[in-house]
Amino acid sequence: MSDGATTAYQKVHDASLADPEGFWREAAGAIDWVTPPTRILDDTRPPFYRWYPDAELNVCFNALDRHVAAGRGDQPAVRYDSPVTGTKATLTYADLLGRVSRFAGALSGLGVEKGDRVVIYMPMVPEAVVAMLACARLGAIHSVVFGGFAPQELAARIEDAEPKVVVSASCGVEPNRVVEYKPMLDAALDRSSHKPESVIVLQREQSRAAVGERDTDWEEMTWDEVYADAEPADCVPVAATDPLYILYTSGTTGKPKGIYRDSGGYAVALRWSMANLYDVAPGETMFTASDVGWVVGHSYIVYAPLLTGATTVLYEGKPVGTPDAGAFWRVIAEYGAVCLFTAPTAFRAIKKEDSTASKLAEHDLSRFRALYLAGERLDPDTYEWASAALGKPVIDNWWQTETGWPIACNPKGIGLMPIKPGSPTVAVPGYDVQVLDGSGQPVGPGVEGAICIKLPMPPGTLPTLWGDDDRYVSSYLSAHPGYYLTGDGGYLDEDGYLYVMGRTDDVLNVAGHRLSTGSLEAALAGHKAVAECAVIGVHDDLKGQVPRALVVLKSGVDAEADGERIRRELVVRVRSEVGAVAALHRVDIVAALPKTRSGKILRKTMREMADGKETAVPATIEDASVLDALAPVLRAPGPA
Ligand code: COA
Ligand code: AMP
Repeated sequence: MSDGATTAYQKVHDASLADPEGFWREAAGAIDWVTPPTRILDDTRPPFYRWYPDAELNVCFNALDRHVAAGRGDQPAVRYDSPVTGTKATLTYADLLGRVSRFAGALSGLGVEKGDRVVIYMPMVPEAVVAMLACARLGAIHSVVFGGFAPQELAARIEDAEPKVVVSASCGVEPNRVVEYKPMLDAALDRSSHKPESVIVLQREQSRAAVGERDTDWEEMTWDEVYADAEPADCVPVAATDPLYILYTSGTTGKPKGIYRDSGGYAVALRWSMANLYDVAPGETMFTASDVGWVVGHSYIVYAPLLTGATTVLYEGKPVGTPDAGAFWRVIAEYGAVCLFTAPTAFRAIKKEDSTASKLAEHDLSRFRALYLAGERLDPDTYEWASAALGKPVIDNWWQTETGWPIACNPKGIGLMPIKPGSPTVAVPGYDVQVLDGSGQPVGPGVEGAICIKLPMPPGTLPTLWGDDDRYVSSYLSAHPGYYLTGDGGYLDEDGYLYVMGRTDDVLNVAGHRLSTGSLEAALAGHKAVAECAVIGVHDDLKGQVPRALVVLKSGVDAEADGERIRRELVVRVRSEVGAVAALHRVDIVAALPKTRSGKILRKTMREMADGKETAVPATIEDASVLDALAPVLRAPGPA
């Protein structure tokens, strides 16, 4: 292929790999440093790499103070739009700086210092953004936990991050109900062996929480109480290599992985991505419909737009039902957003409700330039529908919590390349993406294998896991030395376009939410009637995947008489332990689970059977008759 955009991309990509230090030295010029970098990449301790090892900065300063100083004080920084509560608010850069400085002062008053952790368990309210940036201002490390997670997941994160302070809210608001956060937080703190020194609760009028009424070792107070008398705090410089946040993500075990996000590399990469990938300029509005609890929210609701001096939309609502399938178009029009970033599942939901996109005509989308979709595979049907409805480029981008920003994308800011439906296009500059076979050799075009990234990865990507270098190496770097293993399988075509076919491990992806099979299985295994269980993610037309459970009951439990009740209890149990987003689609009580001779449950084989795919039964299977007996159950459609 040799059109202009392809050539432009190729030049930038080649330059980024030929001279990474020169490339990222130049990109670092878009960030204000306290101590500018003289060294760009520390590669003295492979497989550990660090970007900008001798530099210092403050990320909050870069996201707020410098824009106010440059005259953007009156520009909207955040447009809060909450159809579920009927609230809208605009915070200018000056407003946001004022609020963040003051909340930073409040945290500092509670003893929060550089390097301390603060867990933030909040819905999509401006105070969540304020809390994140206040931590960044102090050099404290935030760890935001998605509000859709319940006590078990929250407790695991508190246990690992060991926060000094937890910031939460009395409730979240879903279209069909108010979700009480405080009881879930209480339950998580009761379970966690680590206890914070203070808990701050934002009271929301939809449901106020009981704050400070329990007999706890930690102090509980409301947001208003700590905020009222707080003095504004100034920015604390941190090393570029110091963590800005820890974001936990699901692996296959029940223990989440704490992704360590450094400060300098992340700021440089995000700022670069706004100009070169997302094509959003200072002063423009970006609408990212995700949640601050996910990486997409961290990067493209909060940090990237604000580092750019752009305006971000904080949308507390859904693509449909709040009030209808025109909600996204309304928000785009109302704030003049130049792009929308969300997950394909949101578009499948809109398509299901308004198949002709009739609601689009009601809104002025004249400033809208592109739709970005990520979080799960963009199926060609959804691509075609969105593309025809909007008449604007629909850009698939593939990445993960670990990388913090896209690995593969159509780089609109550099020049839009021809789109091939089903492919997130090409490797982003900075990433050397290769597809490897089982023995670590690169495969040819069109051949599927493990998608890997040759080390070092670019700035912004994880340098390690929080407090666990060994797990970082064993999870990501040991399969193919010299490469980062993404966990996704796929192939490159003859034009270098990447096709991502899905996870090669047992990680679930439900409506763009990444969930751990291990967490769901732990919740099931906690039921007294369960001897053994397995969870698999099976295909779903709307949500991409939905979780399905296979359960073996303890001997003596009467499946005939009690099966129905146990099934119901298991669904409730997973929902209350892991979260509503982990709703089990179907629970089957079975006689046995298929395993290898070494005892590993054959989840992938069961998943393939449930999806009606060709199944290669491993030669190491212990007893093939177990799998044969399960076949009719696995192929049964719909919930049971
Ligand atoms: N707090 C509490 N509960 C939450 C929650 C949150 N932040 N987010 C979701 N839930 C609940 C929902 O209310 C729902 O509860 P219910 O079973 O009582 O109805 C349950 O979790 C399942 O949620 P979800 O999987 O999101 O399904 P849904 O039917 O409510 O909505 C979509 C389907 C497609 C509209 C929705 O998933 C969506 O907007 N997805 C966009 C994807 C996205 O933002 N991904 C993030 C990565 S980019
Ligand atoms: P998360 O860490 O929650 O962002 O989830 C990352 C995982 O989601 C990836 O490893 C992929 O399996 C999947 N994913 C994200 N974006 C895409 C995409 N554009 N195409 C295919 N899969 C994707």
